[in-house]
Amino acid sequence: MLNALIDNWHLSFGGVPPEVIVRAPGRVNIIGEHTDYNEGWVLPGAMSRSLYVLVSRNTHGGHHWIASDLNEELESPEHILEYGEYSWARYIQGAISIYAPGIGPLRLMIGGDLPVGAGISSSSALVCGMLYALQQLTEKTESREELALLGQRVEREIIGVQGGIMDQFAIMMSEPGHVMLLDCRTRQHRLIQADLPGCKWILINTKVKHALVDSDYNQRAAQCAQAVAHLQTIDPKIKSLRDVSIDMLASADLPEVLLQRSAFVVQENERVHHMVRALGLHDADAAGQFLQASHAGLKELYEVSCDELDHLAAFANTYPGVWGARMMGGGFGGCVICLLEEEIFDSFSRDVTLAYHQRFGFDPEIIEFELAGGVSRITRPG
Ligand code: GLA
Repeated sequence: MLNALIDNWHLSFGGVPPEVIVRAPGRVNIIGEHTDYNEGWVLPGAMSRSLYVLVSRNTHGGHHWIASDLNEELESPEHILEYGEYSWARYIQGAISIYAPGIGPLRLMIGGDLPVGAGISSSSALVCGMLYALQQLTEKTESREELALLGQRVEREIIGVQGGIMDQFAIMMSEPGHVMLLDCRTRQHRLIQADLPGCKWILINTKVKHALVDSDYNQRAAQCAQAVAHLQTIDPKIKSLRDVSIDMLASADLPEVLLQRSAFVVQENERVHHMVRALGLHDADAAGQFLQASHAGLKELYEVSCDELDHLAAFANTYPGVWGARMMGGGFGGCVICLLEEEIFDSFSRDVTLAYHQRFGFDPEIIEFELAGGVSRITRPG
């Protein structure tokens, strides 16, 4: 994968190798969805599938950026702007403008095996990989946490998605073999083992991404803020849904939609802690129940699922040997994360693919992964 990219680099830019090569992993999340921007808890990790950023300063020319997998190529800032708000170039440009606006022209190539629009945060991987590559180029020394927060700024200020800090923290700071229990208010985090004996975590990619994902996402964040404003009239100490209990909600007289959204967030925060306990006890049955309950809440209360995700989750959640499955990430498409007995992996993969194909006319993608470390510089390609 990386070797092919390096070959392409030499074909495109000649014999001088890139000054910096960075690997930026995708993000998985065991549980704790739509809780990060409500100052709650999440349980994400970095995955073995990654995006690579290859970069050099171009002292003799202008910008020249290549997205190797897409066969797209840009050669001037004007051209980059024409590319529109959501293209890969916008994320790169966002990282440059926040971190190193004066850096000058770059030769840059990106590529890898992270599917785009699959809810595994390829956009944050690109932003975080870019920020880290720029840090290496400029030899500055911010901490990974500082870079993660800059990554969040790129997405909020340049891209316009009012996201939390889960993706950037997981991509910047994960450790191999672990997920991270992250408190999104205090930003304290600790590593958690997510392995359960005889079990396997997999992703199933619906391969769909429905339109308006970003505006729906921002609308959910706005609804949570409205609920908080309402709850503050009862108790001014409430700063976010993190400070709210189910009992408070029951007596608050919130409009129905805001009550649903808030109830989901409050319950999902509780599920994160229950999940950590279940993982510690190696209790796959309990872990599976929390996954199933999370999906039900995302579907019915938070309303961020879609037919394709529901179909995969429902199939998995009634399949013998699957402990539980739920949609992962922002929603409206992307992946389901699934905990299953290792020994049924082959038969389940075959059957879920068939069932999905029968319903939607194309195959989902089964993604096996290891829990990997965060963003890193690659010094010896190979
Ligand atoms: C997206 C956002 C994250 C988080 C999830 C939902 O991935 O980037 O900050 O809010 O959705 O949990």
